[in-house]
Amino acid sequence: MKSPTEIAVRQFTPADYEAAIAVNRASYPDYTESLEEWRHWDDTWEHKKYFKARLVAEDGGRIVGWGQINHTPWAFVADKYRIDLTVLPESRRRGFGSAIHDQLLAIADGRGARAVQAAAKESLADGVAFLEHRGYRERKRDWESRLFVRDFDFSRFAGAEERVAKQGIRITTLAEERQRDPEALRKAYELDTDCSQDVPSIDPHTTAPYEEWLAHTIEAPNALPDAWFIAIDSDGRYLGLSDLFSSLDDPTFLWQGLTGVRREARGRGIAMALKLRTVRYGIARGVEHIKTWNDVNNQPMLAINVAMGFVRQPAWVTYEKDLSASSQSRRAP
Ligand SMILES: CC(C)(COP(=O)(O)OP(=O)(O)OC[C@H]1O[C@@H](n2cnc3c(N)ncnc32)[C@H](O)[C@@H]1OP(=O)(O)O)[C@@H](O)C(=O)NCCC(=O)NCCS
Repeated sequence: MKSPTEIAVRQFTPADYEAAIAVNRASYPDYTESLEEWRHWDDTWEHKKYFKARLVAEDGGRIVGWGQINHTPWAFVADKYRIDLTVLPESRRRGFGSAIHDQLLAIADGRGARAVQAAAKESLADGVAFLEHRGYRERKRDWESRLFVRDFDFSRFAGAEERVAKQGIRITTLAEERQRDPEALRKAYELDTDCSQDVPSIDPHTTAPYEEWLAHTIEAPNALPDAWFIAIDSDGRYLGLSDLFSSLDDPTFLWQGLTGVRREARGRGIAMALKLRTVRYGIARGVEHIKTWNDVNNQPMLAINVAMGFVRQPAWVTYEKDLSASSQSRRAP
């Protein structure tokens, strides 16, 4: 292995966007991201509240890997950080990943971190081994699954949409509601934040202020306001949502955002009616599939997805590395 001193790891600069994104395209061809999306995430990052730093590794002046350490805004814990690192497949097992990782941990240590989290897809053996060999322990497991929409058989769900309509509930979109109700965005925000509380998470969900939610979610370059489905009752109360967003780099699929129904409105068929609309949207847009993730213990959501025919993929495992011992020794007199 090259010694860390032989490997150039330096701060990311805006000139590195394309090269870092190219590392991801080569490493995760099913999950490619665009320059526009990366810039949006960086430009809307709340640096005053949340820490984020990005590094790149070079081999003879060419970027072969990148890494990032950041707070998790949606489950904020001041002394916990998320780490991501990726090395070009042809440059692996030469010490680049370790060099990036060492520097990310040094940053975490310098900030008094108690723990760092990282995730790997269970079928990508090198990522799993890398984390397990460095003291990361599994904390959470999410199944990815994909619904191939072109063959979707709506006859199997005959009555699902009528069942909801008979309760006086209409399914509409954020785009439509914004036309008729100046409060639509605020109501959508409240619904989204309320439903997010019950999504399984290692650390408790934290609520972003309205302006942050707006900038991140609604004003994102891949937002689809006409695929942001909302269930509204006859009193105008927002009861549930299911939203999709696009992958600017890959028009063959859509990402599933949150599907959630307020606690008091559960068990009335609302989630299924919402999800059926997302399938119709996907078909009209001409995509091949919708990608989603669910905690392996999230039975209510998994039951709906299984019934709809989502095909299970390998899981994504979130790991955590405890740094409290090293932090304590550093703080000791
Ligand atoms: C995880 C990842 C970043 C590691 O990158 P990498 O550059 O291969 O990392 P390294 O070369 O430093 O180390 C990888 C292994 O190769 C070994 N290695 C390094 N140089 C070597 C050499 N010359 N000969 C043999 N083995 C070598 C390392 O010791 C290490 O093994 P270990 O875990 O048993 O210590 C890379 O596999 C990747 O991008 N995977 C996809 C993304 C991912 O899953 N990331 C992890 C979570 S964010």
